[in-house]
Amino acid sequence: MKVEIIKCLQDNYSYLIINEKNQNACVIDPSEAKPIIDFVEKKNINLKFILNTHHHYDHIGGNNELKKKYGVKIVGFINDKDKIPKIDIFVENNQTWMNEDFQAKIIHIPGHTLGHICFYFSKDKIAFTGDTLFSLGCGRIFEGTYEQMFASLNKLKKLPIDTKIYCGHEYTLKNSMFCLQYEKNNKNLEKKIFEIKDKLKNNLPTLPSTIGEELACNIFLRAKNLEDFSKLRDLKDNF
Ligand SMILES: [Fe+2]
Repeated sequence: MKVEIIKCLQDNYSYLIINEKNQNACVIDPSEAKPIIDFVEKKNINLKFILNTHHHYDHIGGNNELKKKYGVKIVGFINDKDKIPKIDIFVENNQTWMNEDFQAKIIHIPGHTLGHICFYFSKDKIAFTGDTLFSLGCGRIFEGTYEQMFASLNKLKKLPIDTKIYCGHEYTLKNSMFCLQYEKNNKNLEKKIFEIKDKLKNNLPTLPSTIGEELACNIFLRAKNLEDFSKLRDLKDNF
């Protein structure tokens, strides 16, 4: 399974996952259709599914056009069935969604939205974490509670440490400044910031990250308890 990173809108990332044997593919969170169509056409990809981590417009904006053009099926969380227009396939927490090309475990990770999910491809150790876990950060709490977000991040922390993390936005550099401000002597973080800057200088995405790197550097995963986490989340909202 190959992952292609597609830049969308200002700072969003959509992802194509491709079965290289037959070029069958899914797109994760198509913010807009055009960059996806351009890539699919250029590489002769058979787009089969849209996987949505949550219902925000910058994650589903391309759904309709892609569905119209390619007849793809839209996959999303069952409780978001009224929030994701034209959704076809409903998935639930802990379910394994599978077909002849792909197999992903669904992990319900509420907080940013109530119906937010992670698609975890366990065979390849790849997780699409949407706007819940960012590299060096986590999403704002819009619909859920601090408790829910903290519990959701704890679920993701339990994935194997070499799991690759692909998230919804390129926020890594800004996030790193926040981590550094509140954890000044983290050598792992210093090393990661050096790598991030190097990637950005070369116009490359800072993703994927890994669970191991996030455990070592992401202050939100390093928070000891709900109280510390909540304080950090408030500080970050005004950072
Ligand atoms: Fe979002």
